[in-house]
Amino acid sequence: MNAQAHILLVAPTHYTVSYAINPWMQPERWLQDTAGFAAQARRSFNALSEALRAAGCRLTVIEGEPGLPDMVFPANAGIVLDRRLLLARFRHAERQGEEAPFARAFAALRVAGVLSEVATLPEGVFQEGAGDCLWDAKRGLFWVGWGQRSNQASVKAVADYFGQPVVPLELITERSYHLDVCFCSLAGGEILYYPPALSVDSLARLRERVPAEQLIEATEDDLAHFSVNAVSVGRQVVMSRTTDRLRGVLTERGYQLREVDLSPFMMSGGGAFCMTLRLDRHRAAARHADP
Ligand code: ARG
Repeated sequence: MNAQAHILLVAPTHYTVSYAINPWMQPERWLQDTAGFAAQARRSFNALSEALRAAGCRLTVIEGEPGLPDMVFPANAGIVLDRRLLLARFRHAERQGEEAPFARAFAALRVAGVLSEVATLPEGVFQEGAGDCLWDAKRGLFWVGWGQRSNQASVKAVADYFGQPVVPLELITERSYHLDVCFCSLAGGEILYYPPALSVDSLARLRERVPAEQLIEATEDDLAHFSVNAVSVGRQVVMSRTTDRLRGVLTERGYQLREVDLSPFMMSGGGAFCMTLRLDRHRAAARHADP
């Protein structure tokens, strides 16, 4: 049996929407009710934490820092496999300040024995963590998104560091600025994805590796609900409130949905997946046990 999923979260104490680096972000709207949205963000965060616990996850919650509101999205801070962590390098100045506090948090997790190693990327590589690098436990490979944030050089950097197969996927639309907005590797081996976000070559690469019956297409409406940005733990899927359509599709396939109102975080362009970083991904265990 696989060990319990272990997830890092960042408390939304300093969360705001104060700039726009993706087309979903609404700083003007946030300004209309800063206190109200902050309170709502706290409630949403608590509901997400509860849903993850109910799905069987162990949580480690750290504090963010003032002036770094997007720290609530730790999926962007690094990639973890077999207790080895590759630190992210952010594309935008607005988020580059997160690198140092996340590096300190990961160093502490290494001291605590959760991680065994923390590494940095080569010069010239931008890579925004697990948000652009999804581990496919069933196939034993990384799906690596590049284009908007992570650059093409990140594909080789990930392959070199982890020594695992990687499949590059080029993101061609602004709305799917990270792979996890438009692509989700479900624990049963299905891939939930939004086809218009990927280049023609990338779609071909995906369809070569995943049989048609395991491909689930998301609609524009699913995307706008941040439903593809979901956390899949065994047969449970934790996600922001989804569409009737997708709820039906996933339930039909035997998944149990735990939906949470994440609207304050969607105002920053994020959903459930990017608010988490899975710390316990293991290559070997993944093949035999339910991930
Ligand atoms: N405002 C954040 C940004 O633009 C949202 C990040 C969401 N993370 C994700 N992995 N999709 O960077």
